[in-house]
Amino acid sequence: MNTENKIEFSPETLELVSKIISHYPEGKEKSALVPVLHIAQAEFGGWLSVAVMDYVALLLKILPIEVYEVATFYTMFNTKPVGNCVIEICRTGPCWLLGAEEIILHLEKKLNVKIGETTTDGRFTIKAVECLADCDHAPVIEVSYKYFGNMTKTKVDEMIENFKNNNTIRHTNPFNLNNS
Ligand code: FES
Repeated sequence: MNTENKIEFSPETLELVSKIISHYPEGKEKSALVPVLHIAQAEFGGWLSVAVMDYVALLLKILPIEVYEVATFYTMFNTKPVGNCVIEICRTGPCWLLGAEEIILHLEKKLNVKIGETTTDGRFTIKAVECLADCDHAPVIEVSYKYFGNMTKTKVDEMIENFKNNNTIRHTNPFNLNNS
């Protein structure tokens, strides 16, 4: 973890990142960009600041703009601060047809925020995203790479209560097998 606001991976994370980069030929470090961004997002509070993206560019020996392009394209990356728990609701066709809109409205009312916003206590951010590739279980919600399918308003209420009682739901590094 970085200290004193210095943007730098912890030694353990740097080792993991170096291992991922080593999977690609010299000069093709950019191929590791998406996994390294996931790791950076988890390490630096759940979002990618310009300073973090610049650090990733330095590690991968690419231009900062190449990092910005990818980070701002995919909804899985956050380019502004988020809450401890980021709730992503799929709004693509199958989920929409099976009630995603109702789920979104319910979440907005329950947490008193709009899509894209964070609760005032900093605990929850809600985002609408495109297909999470789990259409069989529509409507689907994802939180820290965990999927919650066949969602109903009741299930949403249970999920929120569970998160409120479980402070371990935070930004997860998908490449760390020790994550719970
Ligand atoms: Fe929602 Fe595919 S449309 S998971």
